[in-house]
Amino acid sequence: MKKVCIVGSGIAGLSCAIECAERGMEVILVSPFPSERAQSVLAAGGINAVLSSEGGDSIESHIEDTLKGGCYIAGKESVKGLCEDAPEIIKKLEKLGTVFSTGENGKIAQRAFGGQSYNRTCYCGSATGKQIVTALVMECRRYEGLGLIQRRLWTDFYKALIKDGKCYGSVFFNEARMDLEIIYADYLVMATGGQNALFGKTTGSTLCDGYAQGRLFLQGVELKNAEFIQYHPTTLETQQKMLLVSEAVRGEGGRLYYVEDGKRVYFMEDLYGEKGNLMPRDIVSRTMERTGKEIYLDITFLGKKEILKRIPEVYDLCLKYRGIDISRESIPVSPSVHFFMGGIAVRNNHETNIKNLYAIGECASIYHGANRLGGNSLLAAVHGGRVAAESISEDKSETDVKNFEKDLEEERRKLSTRWASESEFPVVYLEDLVAETLKEDLGIVRDEERLLNGLKDVDYYLSVVEKLKYDKSEMPYLGFSVTGILTLAKVALTCALFRKESRGAHYRSDYPETKEEWQAATIISYDDGKFNVRLDSENVYES
Ligand code: FUM
Repeated sequence: MKKVCIVGSGIAGLSCAIECAERGMEVILVSPFPSERAQSVLAAGGINAVLSSEGGDSIESHIEDTLKGGCYIAGKESVKGLCEDAPEIIKKLEKLGTVFSTGENGKIAQRAFGGQSYNRTCYCGSATGKQIVTALVMECRRYEGLGLIQRRLWTDFYKALIKDGKCYGSVFFNEARMDLEIIYADYLVMATGGQNALFGKTTGSTLCDGYAQGRLFLQGVELKNAEFIQYHPTTLETQQKMLLVSEAVRGEGGRLYYVEDGKRVYFMEDLYGEKGNLMPRDIVSRTMERTGKEIYLDITFLGKKEILKRIPEVYDLCLKYRGIDISRESIPVSPSVHFFMGGIAVRNNHETNIKNLYAIGECASIYHGANRLGGNSLLAAVHGGRVAAESISEDKSETDVKNFEKDLEEERRKLSTRWASESEFPVVYLEDLVAETLKEDLGIVRDEERLLNGLKDVDYYLSVVEKLKYDKSEMPYLGFSVTGILTLAKVALTCALFRKESRGAHYRSDYPETKEEWQAATIISYDDGKFNVRLDSENVYES
């Protein structure tokens, strides 16, 4: 029986685990936290699928919108697979217990979302991610009962077991025992999400710090499109985070405006017409920033009854965290880091450049090109899990075993030299520093000077980090993860400096045009201690 180790138990990890178990494979699903605390739970707005052609929508249109939204650097074949699978995914999720909102005809309701030609976003109020996680967890439990899935908590990814370009499982840090351990597996699937914590306060979970990507990069795994970082246009600042004011609000007719000379200026509508508020996120965020004004989002005209019916969670969150009753007053909004189009480079079957090492969900870069459309991330998370499981199940190559016990001892020794008995240096302080650097130098608008500045800062942090010792009684994970996190920050800055054009979420004020010769993915690898960047002009990763 093939053994698959999946790292991360959000929607992508759960989807892959279920699909592997359905195909009779043995799964170990590893994560530091339960699925209920995964970033996926925060996904609000919905999941895209063409469910009917009655209103004129078609799968071809979903494909074209996705490719166009991504500024034509996502692979056509992979996007086609994503959009074709979408109706089947909705059916399956519903069968597993996801309660989608319905229209008056009793059928699944679909709302408008940014950059889409038709209303094709299915939703569960404004808590779609939470509903899907609940349904998948239940199914996962069934397979646990059958002995095919084993779930492991309090277990952090440490490094992959890689020899001669092939993966054999992974080393983990067991938080309960405060020790490293090995899980051998025929296939390792990374589903560790994005890297919101790199930017401090964002819409995302601070548990997603991108460490795994940074560490894998240093182990020879190629990364892709790291410069494409999505700023969600409508977020509301609270003490802990930037609260997502779902695109669903604009999907339900919400209007963005600023006030000038005592009058409201609906700037997105003035610039882009009727659908202005629902332009792709990169365009809305940049336009908002350019105004230099306080921006507001108005949905009061919908009335409390409809608001509570269509976007109840948005109503609750704004009231609870900021005391704003959105049925009576406009919401003050600003753009904030939300999603990472870049990540681990994968081929169409989700395998990386290392044999038997896969990546799915937000940590993988495949479907969204330079800018993701709202509602396509939940879809990609479920679909990626399905594709990886199918590929693993069909893989006919020999599975073999290698012994890594000596390497484990060496890692234990290295780790022990980093730990002090009491706090010599607060690691979180370094995380705060890198977040400040990235917010300043890798923002919505970039230029060479700021990017070089950011690189200089991150290089300095990297030069000191290996010399620091950490208090192992406090947040043991942070102590060893910080090098990987800083590495990923350097990767993003390096890629942003490399791409001398503007495309999607990557906007360079010193290279404002989109150029045909740059219409390809950015690939970055770590060879002989150096960061090497290239364009994937030969479509090794895209087809
Ligand atoms: O605005 C939102 O509800 C976000 C959805 C998404 O990122 O797909």
